[in-house]
Amino acid sequence: MPVHLNTAGAGLMPAAVVDTMSAHLAEEATEGAYETELRHSDTLEKGVYEALAAVLDAPVDDLALFDSATRAWSSVVGALRLTDADRVWITPYEYAGSLILWTELRRRTGLRVEVIPLTPSGDLDLCWMRRNIREDVAAVSVPHVPSGCGIVNPVEEIGRILAPWPCLYLVDACQSVGQLEVSVRRIGCDLLTGAGRKFLCGPRGTGFAAVGPRLRTAAAPVFHDLHVADMTSADGYEIHTDGARRFEYAERSAAAVRGLDEALRHHLARTDGPGTGHDARAAVRDAVAGLPGTRLIDPGTRHASIVTFVCEQLPAARIRDELAARGVSVWVAQGNHTPLYLPGQGVDHGVRVSPHHYTSPQDTEVFARALREVIR
Ligand SMILES: Cc1ncc(COP(=O)(O)O)c(C=O)c1O
Repeated sequence: MPVHLNTAGAGLMPAAVVDTMSAHLAEEATEGAYETELRHSDTLEKGVYEALAAVLDAPVDDLALFDSATRAWSSVVGALRLTDADRVWITPYEYAGSLILWTELRRRTGLRVEVIPLTPSGDLDLCWMRRNIREDVAAVSVPHVPSGCGIVNPVEEIGRILAPWPCLYLVDACQSVGQLEVSVRRIGCDLLTGAGRKFLCGPRGTGFAAVGPRLRTAAAPVFHDLHVADMTSADGYEIHTDGARRFEYAERSAAAVRGLDEALRHHLARTDGPGTGHDARAAVRDAVAGLPGTRLIDPGTRHASIVTFVCEQLPAARIRDELAARGVSVWVAQGNHTPLYLPGQGVDHGVRVSPHHYTSPQDTEVFARALREVIR
């Protein structure tokens, strides 16, 4: 089996996740998909939301499921009522998908998008935030961990800075849920989004959002699907929930949702929390640091399990392919996926290495040996 160091792409699903999904599909094929859904409605309508609430430390009513983190983000952020009087703060670590949405919202509404500056270490400048926050900042958008490098942004501290202000606080936790402790309650955010497939090791095609009551009141979704809304007359409809599920669509892959439920429970049962066991990130970082012509892209003072580097002699895709030929999976971080930061660091493409709790000391040794063969 290859050494899988691409959790930031998608983590390895535990056997229980695969078994649950396979059994669900087999049941759908023999009994019918609607009938199977009905049989598992406890999990699909209740259990999965309770498990997600436990993982995110968020109220069940705030939770909604989607088929990706981007769908979660765009369904909620796209429903915000913003005007040309509003300012939105983003960070240089913003994910490209989120930036595309801000660009579109700016074009449509005339709102102003401002980028929070960094300190020389690459950390977000919290003093600047404290000095400049005003009533007209309508939303602040922060990725907990960005897509292209391993900095951990101080989302709880930012939450404390923003708490006295009316702005909505939006956190992209796509790369952090499953590897870091994430508590919506402690962060104090109005929106937190993520994907099932990354450090939670759930299936592809799953995403989620925690949408707080303040944001639910402020948002105006253009559509409500039939699991939450009924036509009451020829030209009237009623929404029968105040909960975040009003942002969802009714149709979804029940097998994927059950897989996500299993992954969340597997995660909750883990005893090897952050900071315990083998420090795979440190081992990966050490393996890269000593090699000729390599440069780590490692801003900030706190780091998650993502190590990105570039190499003068070899393109990132070549390093990925050479490592794959030696039984090690890493991925290419595209500069334009973190477009306000990586290109400015001279990174068009970098090698992104993202171990997880299942990465053993032997795995990181195999990686280090293979990398020494590839980069000499
Ligand atoms: C930081 C970050 N945010 C958002 C996303 C989007 O997630 P998805 O592909 O599930 O839409 C990604 C994907 O890699 C990401 O790294």
